[in-house]
Amino acid sequence: MSFSIERYKEESKKLDTAGIDWEAVAANPLSKGDLFCLHYMMDIENHVPLYLSHLLVTRACMDPILTAFLACWNYEELWHGENLGRLLNLYGIEFDTQDRIANVRANLGFQNSVSLMSTMAGSWLLKDFSAVYLTIGAINELSTLTGYGALIRKSGHPVLKDLLGRIIKDERRHFAFYFNSAKEWLTGNEKAQRMDRWMLNRVWVPVGQGVKTQEEVDALAVYLFDDEQGEEELINLDDKIGRLPGLSGIKLMTKALAGARERSRKNPQWAWRLIDREGWAVAAPKKSPVGELTTRRSHADESAIAVEAG
Ligand SMILES: [Fe+2]
Ligand SMILES: [Fe+2]
Repeated sequence: MSFSIERYKEESKKLDTAGIDWEAVAANPLSKGDLFCLHYMMDIENHVPLYLSHLLVTRACMDPILTAFLACWNYEELWHGENLGRLLNLYGIEFDTQDRIANVRANLGFQNSVSLMSTMAGSWLLKDFSAVYLTIGAINELSTLTGYGALIRKSGHPVLKDLLGRIIKDERRHFAFYFNSAKEWLTGNEKAQRMDRWMLNRVWVPVGQGVKTQEEVDALAVYLFDDEQGEEELINLDDKIGRLPGLSGIKLMTKALAGARERSRKNPQWAWRLIDREGWAVAAPKKSPVGELTTRRSHADESAIAVEAG
């Protein structure tokens, strides 16, 4: 698996959706589990710019190759979120994408600022911070594309299969960048290897956790991976990450699945109740009204202004 940043810069582009049969979206059913996963995935794709803000304040971004990658990566991820939203809208689920994104962000509240500052401080204190960040990037991209593959299999929806198949190609390139960069950093650097392993075992969480609750993360895990094939896919995922120097035998996604299963065993309602009750809606924040955070007025205010102006 090779990666050339020059080639990536030349070839990076908006997701090509030409020929996708959008008109057939509503003609094929999606289960509640499929819909739950699609909302989760859309929200996390749409969260990338905020995630990026955490990275740009770190020591890792002194590297111009990394910032060139992030500039293209951020744009590509934008179109993943946009197209997942488009598919959901065409399926008949009504929401305004901008409102939903703003609500997800507003619900993060103060925790987002604390996390940003601690990532920044940690990166300047730890010389090998980049090793941890790059490894986490590799796991996130690989688990994202593995999740999309599992959703294709679970849903059997032809249009979703076509769309996710195209997104997976982007995610593979992202994975190749992170994996190769992490490998370069870790090779011959035992101190970085030890720290990477130590940090992953303590601070790593599955992609989306933090924006989503533990129960939401578990719902995604049990829906997509709680069967023989799903478990095998996660074992393979951990094996791939374990090929990085110093990470042999590491258990991350399989440990996350085991945790989700354990919580479901203790409380059989756990996770599935979110799927059954269609718990993918994002509540408007109690504090920090979106209008204040975005300086955009609500639609109701806009029409009031239009009437006044008229
Ligand atoms: Fe993506
Ligand atoms: Fe990606």
